[in-house]
Amino acid sequence: MEIIIQPTAEAATQAAARWFARVIRENPTAVLGLATGGTPLLLYRELVARQLDWSRLTTFNLDEYIGLSPQHPQSYHHFMRENLFRHVNISGPQVNLPDGLANAIPAECERYEDKIRAAGGIELQLLGIGTDGHIGFNEQTSSLASRTRIKTLTPRTRQDNARFFGSEAAVPQHVITMGIGTILEARHCVLLAFGANKARAVAGAVEGPVTAMNPASALQLHPRVTVYLDEAAAAELALKDYYRWVFEQKPAWQTV
Ligand code: GLP
Repeated sequence: MEIIIQPTAEAATQAAARWFARVIRENPTAVLGLATGGTPLLLYRELVARQLDWSRLTTFNLDEYIGLSPQHPQSYHHFMRENLFRHVNISGPQVNLPDGLANAIPAECERYEDKIRAAGGIELQLLGIGTDGHIGFNEQTSSLASRTRIKTLTPRTRQDNARFFGSEAAVPQHVITMGIGTILEARHCVLLAFGANKARAVAGAVEGPVTAMNPASALQLHPRVTVYLDEAAAAELALKDYYRWVFEQKPAWQTV
């Protein structure tokens, strides 16, 4: 894993945006894996400002709430449309999210997996992290080999996401999420985490044992992961000085 610690979320986002912009410029037909939540908002704003060409890209989002229509203001369809897609030149058929209104959930999950495979797999997968270490909606004790499927949210995740819905009771109980096995097949995973409330999950993911109790720790098994952190999210990393040193010593050909 490469750990990049920046003084602020803005600086960490800038660094991640440089990487995303480079991938989009160098590979205009890339398949991107996208995420929702508060964390990637700045990144999406930054990518929009860079006026990149999205016309031949394909995107797959990590997850969606079951029971919310694409028009529901808290659906991830809506989130992505409002925060990214309507600001860039990407057209509907290239944009993929699980269908939260599907009648047959297992069939929908299989369709999603097939579509990712048919697109040639995901080149660059963006990830946030939950306060308990979840990625996508792969809650604690998710199989580290899991595929796209239904999950039941934990009370903690519903509490964390209640801020978007007005109350915890309004947060759906079920979701469709790419599995951890699905995520690990992306060729490069980029995880962003900002703020003190993520520090413990980040330390567990990067330096803890690989365990289903911290689903993001499965990223330790992936050959290419970049983690962008602000100081607050990096606070509990035992080796943070080493990561800074590594970053400062990077050979010029490795920098963006
Ligand atoms: C949700 C999403 C995750 C996201 C997490 C953290 O659970 N499914 O993909 O990483 O929230 O969200 P935030 O960035 O708002 O802290």
